[in-house]
Amino acid sequence: MNNEMNNKTYLIIGGTGGIGQAMVQQLVQQTTDSQSNQSHRTQVFATYHRNEPNIEAENLHWLPMDVSDEESIKKAADTIKQTVSHVDWVINCVGLLHTETAQPEKALRQMETEFFLQNMKINALASLLIAKHIKPLLAKANRSANHPAVFATVSARVGSITDNQLGGWYSYRMSKAALNMGMKNLSIEWGRSLKDVCVVVMQPGTVNTQLSAPFQGNVAEGHLFSPAYSAECLLEVLSGMTATQSGSFVDWAGESIPW
Ligand SMILES: NC(=O)c1ccc[n+]([C@@H]2O[C@H](COP(=O)([O-])OP(=O)(O)OC[C@H]3O[C@@H](n4cnc5c(N)ncnc54)[C@H](OP(=O)(O)O)[C@@H]3O)[C@@H](O)[C@H]2O)c1
Repeated sequence: MNNEMNNKTYLIIGGTGGIGQAMVQQLVQQTTDSQSNQSHRTQVFATYHRNEPNIEAENLHWLPMDVSDEESIKKAADTIKQTVSHVDWVINCVGLLHTETAQPEKALRQMETEFFLQNMKINALASLLIAKHIKPLLAKANRSANHPAVFATVSARVGSITDNQLGGWYSYRMSKAALNMGMKNLSIEWGRSLKDVCVVVMQPGTVNTQLSAPFQGNVAEGHLFSPAYSAECLLEVLSGMTATQSGSFVDWAGESIPW
């Protein structure tokens, strides 16, 4: 993790997920490392959904947030506002592919309204509502064109319309495509109203988490990332982003993905 990432205030949404928790741990670890040889002001806010995890650190603040409930998003943002003046980076790591009762569709006959709407709420709408309530905190971020504030969402390559060769997974694919359009739109709006903020959607690789667990059978050897490796790559890519790259869809290596 590079020095550029010290002394920032981070908000990780979905800090208990595979990728989200790895990000939280790396940012907290960076804080600990930098404590040994320099003073620091790094703060990490992280949200949990069902259960508060027992990861503790001096500069780590856990908050409850259900991203399908706007009031819950607003409440978390208000709590952060009472603690700090600004947030420099926001990374939304929440996502839904399957539930206890529903799997991604293999064919049209499996489409169900409730599951589709749940995907849209959690994968597509949430980032817009988070942006709506977190904007005042991002507006006060310490930033420049070369080191912008960051509003990133972990999306998925399967949300690329151009890249779709296999079909299937209607709800997940459509919700990620909708997320991507929402974030592209937001990058244009904030490009006018909020200086030096980089809005990004990212493909994390195929990562060994509970989300991908039922679908890892066809992953080629050596292509299943650990959450720690994916998180490290995503943070590294974000640390190199400039304001002119706002509105990008990139993968864990920083390569552009077609919409
Ligand atoms: N893993 C992969 O191979 C892969 C590939 C491409 C893209 N992605 C994307 O990467 C992101 C992270 O996925 P992951 O693999 O780390 O999955 P994960 O381990 O299943 O984490 C998902 C997180 O989302 C949270 N969540 C679900 N519903 C929520 C809600 N209503 N409110 C707040 N939080 C909620 C979960 O919390 P609870 O468990 O408490 O509900 C969990 O912390 C997702 O957007 C996913 O689509 C993953």
